[in-house]
Amino acid sequence: MKGKRYCALLLAALLLSGFSCVQADTLTVFPEQILHEVSPTLYGIFIEDINCAVDGGLYAELVKNRSFENENLWNPRHADHWDAWSVRKQEKASASLESILPLSAQNPTYLQTVLEESGMLQIRIQGFGGNLLRGGIAVEAGKQYDLSLCLRFDDTAAQTGMVSAILTDAAGNPVSEKASFRGDVHPAGVWRSFKATLQVSETTGAFLTLEFAGKGIMDADMVSLMPADRFGKDWPGGGMRADLVEALRKLHPRFMRFPGGCIVEGTYVRSNAYAWKDTLGDTAMRREIPNTWGGMQTMGVGFFEYFCLAEEIGALPVPVVHAGLLCQARDAKDSPLTLEETKAYIQDILDLIEFATGSVDTPWGQVRAGMGHPEPFDLRYIAIGNENWGASYFSRYAILSGAVHEAYPDITCIVGAGPVAEGGLFQDSWNNIRRRFSEELVDEHFYMDSSWFPAHANRYDSYPRTTKVFLGEYAAHEPVQGNRRPNNLYAALCEAAFLTGIERNSDVVVMSCYAPLLCREKEADWTPDLIWFNENSIYCTPSYYVQQMFSNACGTELVASETDGGLFQAVTRTEQELQIKVINLSGNAKSLTLLLTGVGNQTVCGQVLTGEKEHVNSFARMDKVSPQEIMVTCADGKAEIELPPWSLTILKAVLTK
Ligand code: AHR
Repeated sequence: MKGKRYCALLLAALLLSGFSCVQADTLTVFPEQILHEVSPTLYGIFIEDINCAVDGGLYAELVKNRSFENENLWNPRHADHWDAWSVRKQEKASASLESILPLSAQNPTYLQTVLEESGMLQIRIQGFGGNLLRGGIAVEAGKQYDLSLCLRFDDTAAQTGMVSAILTDAAGNPVSEKASFRGDVHPAGVWRSFKATLQVSETTGAFLTLEFAGKGIMDADMVSLMPADRFGKDWPGGGMRADLVEALRKLHPRFMRFPGGCIVEGTYVRSNAYAWKDTLGDTAMRREIPNTWGGMQTMGVGFFEYFCLAEEIGALPVPVVHAGLLCQARDAKDSPLTLEETKAYIQDILDLIEFATGSVDTPWGQVRAGMGHPEPFDLRYIAIGNENWGASYFSRYAILSGAVHEAYPDITCIVGAGPVAEGGLFQDSWNNIRRRFSEELVDEHFYMDSSWFPAHANRYDSYPRTTKVFLGEYAAHEPVQGNRRPNNLYAALCEAAFLTGIERNSDVVVMSCYAPLLCREKEADWTPDLIWFNENSIYCTPSYYVQQMFSNACGTELVASETDGGLFQAVTRTEQELQIKVINLSGNAKSLTLLLTGVGNQTVCGQVLTGEKEHVNSFARMDKVSPQEIMVTCADGKAEIELPPWSLTILKAVLTK
């Protein structure tokens, strides 16, 4: 009796002290029992310009508000066209923002300076993340930066006017060479484009300073600065931040959904809806619109650049267009397109498909070729609508998708199932879809509490196998801490547990992508996010590593496997290899015996992601939670491994027979 009590007390003490009990489980894998093919497009990414993901992020542009179009979507009467720009010094000079004789009608605002004899005017540009005292243009010693701007000198300024550009630190000290552009080298009164490369001598948060000197009127617009070592430098938009592109590439995404999200539908007013044609060609001709999530969309990353990016990182492009409705979750001030207007809008979608896939003999194929890509892009999907529901959506969807099917029978249309995982609205959407659009790919979106995900890992087990699902947006949400939901290991492992269910059902779920993808520090509109960055560096979250580990270990076929414990697992194979994924979603370590037919004797390589459940990565500890390489000895198809508490383990075993 005494002994029993002692044991119970010891056990309680061990549990309270956080001691992890080691439990034993077995995972038996039957590589020859193929259950079904795994969708080759299972893992992808979704890019939306939220959290400054694109402007101020992926887009290589370092000048914020480069063309003075900054508007306030919430209160258009308080547009701040001076945002991130300020007049620093002026002597016998004035500056204003005008729109009488613009560089382009799509981009009407420009800076006008008026200088008297020997006048001087200095303007300071803060960049993203800067303020009046702190430069927000991150520059690095020894690197080069490409400057471009459009200038116009009137007759007088053409005689003596000069515009100079230089990067300075917060104290005003130069950190780059100065580039000067004289008014007398060109005919007066017309916009001209000027370029220079600035060599930087110091690593700092810089201001770009423009100095106007001489006499007369000098106008400026489209003032741009980009790192010379950016990615996609030759694309008309100007290119992308190389470190962010690399982080996307390492996810090995099979597809890329873009450009939204809510931003495609436009917010409150129709003029705010995303119009893909306005995102093409010379950047000065692209119509900027206020971003639903704040700031402006310069469209420097436009549809052409999105297609190029997808191609570069080996992903199939999945463009999303609106369905004639403004964002249904917001209080729209304009009505949706009427059914007649929806019919007229068909052509816009067909033109997009021609733009992506048409030969250079077609009008839109020619536009694509003119932008530098004569070969067609590999477009196979188009999503019509983002998070829409109800009769107003499905009636418009029928018109638009019907036209696509007729003109392009090989293109798969993606229909939305609304913004929720379950409940009346969700059921109603699926009822409509099963009745009318069962051949389409169905876009589900859900953001749920972390614990919902493992509890619903079998969500798709009971789905009819006919209509296919695209899980276009999801993420495990932890309770808010401070002002954000943390991207911790627990949330990531809950997603991993759910993904085993997706792999087991990848005959139904054929595509999936986490949302949102990118977040600029201090610009978080929405948390959690997969990749965080500031002007200098980036870090990846535990959820990123889950995506990466799953994506890099995704076989072509699902094989039978069984476990006797409470583990989440899925096993796939290719011709030569088995990919085993096991999640231990508990605070106890577990001993696992792996029984692998066809594997024999070998050292099996793999990765494990583990830590404390609340661990997060940060700029200070970027890799606190990151995959570690492991090796496991397998003798005669049997391996003993220990699954750490709170862990994802992925093993790749060579199939020897
Ligand atoms: O991913 C963030 C937002 O979530 C998307 O814009 C929208 O589609 C969803 O509501």
